[in-house]
Amino acid sequence: MAIQSQLGLEVLYTRQQIAGRVAELGAQITKDLKGEKLTMVGVLKGAAPFLADLARAVEVDATFDFVATSSYGKGISTSGAVKLVKDLDEPIEGKNVLVVEDILDTGLTLSYLRKFLLQQRPKSLRIATLLDKPSRRIEKIEADYVGFSIPNLFVIGYGMDYAERYRNLPDICVMTEDHPE
Ligand code: IMP
Ligand code: MG
Repeated sequence: MAIQSQLGLEVLYTRQQIAGRVAELGAQITKDLKGEKLTMVGVLKGAAPFLADLARAVEVDATFDFVATSSYGKGISTSGAVKLVKDLDEPIEGKNVLVVEDILDTGLTLSYLRKFLLQQRPKSLRIATLLDKPSRRIEKIEADYVGFSIPNLFVIGYGMDYAERYRNLPDICVMTEDHPE
């Protein structure tokens, strides 16, 4: 908690709350898979801590892969355009794929990724997002598993960044506009 309180950040979800919710999501995913194998596809970089925790909360035979898309850039506002900057390492044809994302915001990223991944004919494609900001949606898309649904706040920590910083904060905090550098 030391860095966060030094920075004067407001905690939205504590590490304990996150762990509790991740355990619930893991149990649900385990149940839904009915013993089948899983390929977890993390969206770099923000989803890395969530994927690491969720992977250990699912009781299935799982493999990891990662993709990266063009992101928000350095600030808070989005450019609108999405492009793939890192492709999958392994084919996903015939596999049960779970896309693991940090935040579902406008939906542009996940709509693009869903379309891209479906072209490769997986057996199933599901989406897990730690946070969902439904009020910000531009593209019509819902996740199959949502950690927490939040209002229109800019959040940092547990993988999520502001200008690439703060990803290592253990709790999810709110970034305020007047935050000092
Ligand atoms: P979308 O394409 O607008 O749905 O945006 C998804 C991506 O934007 C997420 O994967 C995050 O990387 C980033 N993003 C959206 N909201 C936030 C936030 O509040 N904090 C940090 N990153 C965010
Ligand atoms: Mg992201």
